[in-house]
Amino acid sequence: MPGAPPEGTPAGTTQQDPGGYRARFEAALNAMVDGLIIIDQWGRIEVFNPAAERIFGYRAAEVIGRNVKMLMPEPWQGEHDRYLRNYLRTGVPRIIGIGREAQGLRKDGTVFPLDIAIGEARGERMQFVGIVRDISWRKNAEAAIRAREAELRLIIDNAPAGIFMADGLCRIRTVNPEFCRLCGRAQGVLLGMHFADLVAAEDRGIVDEMRQAAQRASQPDTQDVRIRRPDGGLTPCSLHCSYTVQDGQPLFVAQVLDRSSELMMEQQVREQRDRLAHVGRLSTMGEMASGIAHEITQPLTAIATYAQAARRMLARGAQGAQDFEEALEQIARQAERAGDIIQRLRGFMRREEIRSELVDINEQLRAVIRFADVDLRHHYTRVELALAPDLPPVQADAVQLQQVALNFIRNAVDAMAEVPPGERVIAIRSARGPGAAIEFSVTDRGPGVSPGDVERLFAPFFTTKAHGIGLGLSISGSIVAAFGGRTWYSEHEGGGAEFHVSLPVAQPVEHE
Ligand SMILES: Nc1ncnc2c1ncn2[C@@H]1O[C@H](COP(=O)(O)OP(=O)(O)O)[C@@H](O)[C@H]1O
Ligand SMILES: [Mg+2]
Repeated sequence: MPGAPPEGTPAGTTQQDPGGYRARFEAALNAMVDGLIIIDQWGRIEVFNPAAERIFGYRAAEVIGRNVKMLMPEPWQGEHDRYLRNYLRTGVPRIIGIGREAQGLRKDGTVFPLDIAIGEARGERMQFVGIVRDISWRKNAEAAIRAREAELRLIIDNAPAGIFMADGLCRIRTVNPEFCRLCGRAQGVLLGMHFADLVAAEDRGIVDEMRQAAQRASQPDTQDVRIRRPDGGLTPCSLHCSYTVQDGQPLFVAQVLDRSSELMMEQQVREQRDRLAHVGRLSTMGEMASGIAHEITQPLTAIATYAQAARRMLARGAQGAQDFEEALEQIARQAERAGDIIQRLRGFMRREEIRSELVDINEQLRAVIRFADVDLRHHYTRVELALAPDLPPVQADAVQLQQVALNFIRNAVDAMAEVPPGERVIAIRSARGPGAAIEFSVTDRGPGVSPGDVERLFAPFFTTKAHGIGLGLSISGSIVAAFGGRTWYSEHEGGGAEFHVSLPVAQPVEHE
């Protein structure tokens, strides 16, 4: 109960309003952000403040004295009188003193969501006070958030990458269908699992490191890991992990990309290159066939000659067992020589797995020259070697590197067909390149490549030869690229073509 009015006459005090309570009440009513409605026990509106006017679109004068149910849509409108009667009879409140979300009806007929709190005043007569707040904006905002959430969910659920979120200990909290597919496990199984338990045992360390690195740097990081499926199989994946703190809790957001098909493709490309390299070797053999045939014919002819001589000796009733033995000795030696040549050929043609090994380039260049020797002599071609000493090794496949050098040499021989025999020279050089690289080059004294053809040199099936296949350079280029190197052509000063290869120096293996 308010006490006695303060001394003096406060502003707003009138004859009918001693103490100015009414004036102050009205000022408060006008200032309220929420709508305030007072009704009597029959539901008739007695007070309707400006905020209520704004909310419902009625002027106070339009509603005072009318039943409050006019501010409600059906079914509440039809039932309000009964509610009120019930309450007055039983005293059991349904909304009074509780407050809840309800709906209002504006003058223009629109229905809107509102929060309503109702209290009752038991004075000389019964009154009810309702405080009303339009919550359309909140409802709209909630609906917008829900729509946005649904949208995000749609994106995440249909993402081609596996996505999961995990807490600070890397325990999985959210997953998308692609992640379930990658893992071969249902969502219900995955939730709560530690991500580290889903990867191959050897890859757990990577996951731990990533987790720590992400936490330290909050920089997203990508690593290759293998996910272990329940069937025991491994799915090769790349894992991209970022870290954030949400509501004070650490949160890992990770994307996992299935790399199986990509790796399968790489494998196919490797196999194809392998096959091509093999085809390339066979075709080089074809190009060298006449020289090789010539080389093998020599020991065979010698064998035939010695065999005839031996037969004659026998026919004569040989006296000199020593001559006879000498002939047999020669036969054996020549047969060995022919066998050697064939052996070298077979070793080169054999299709072997590509190996990645430490290769001494100089050693391979010398081996190729030994091998090509037959062919070179057949074409009256001299080789000048300028190999830099003490070159560090490169990481490559020795036989394939020989193939590259041999392709260059074969092309050089072809290019010098019109050069007088005495001037046919091939210069082969090796050297350290810029950066950590080793280079070698093959230079001839032929006509070089016409400027219009330079761009197409390394394209498959580019050839200017009547019986060329146009694969030699293309295969060479892809072999070198496979080991991280580069191939190019330059015009030699004073005429001739110069083909170059650059390969990275092998990284020393670190021992722990
Ligand atoms: N040393 C060279 N001098 C001039 N042209 C060359 C040389 N090496 C290659 N070329 C050109 O590049 C083309 C492609 O060479 P390559 O791929 O080995 O296929 P092919 O020898 O079967 O023609 C050759 O046809 C030729 O026109
Ligand atoms: Mg060629």
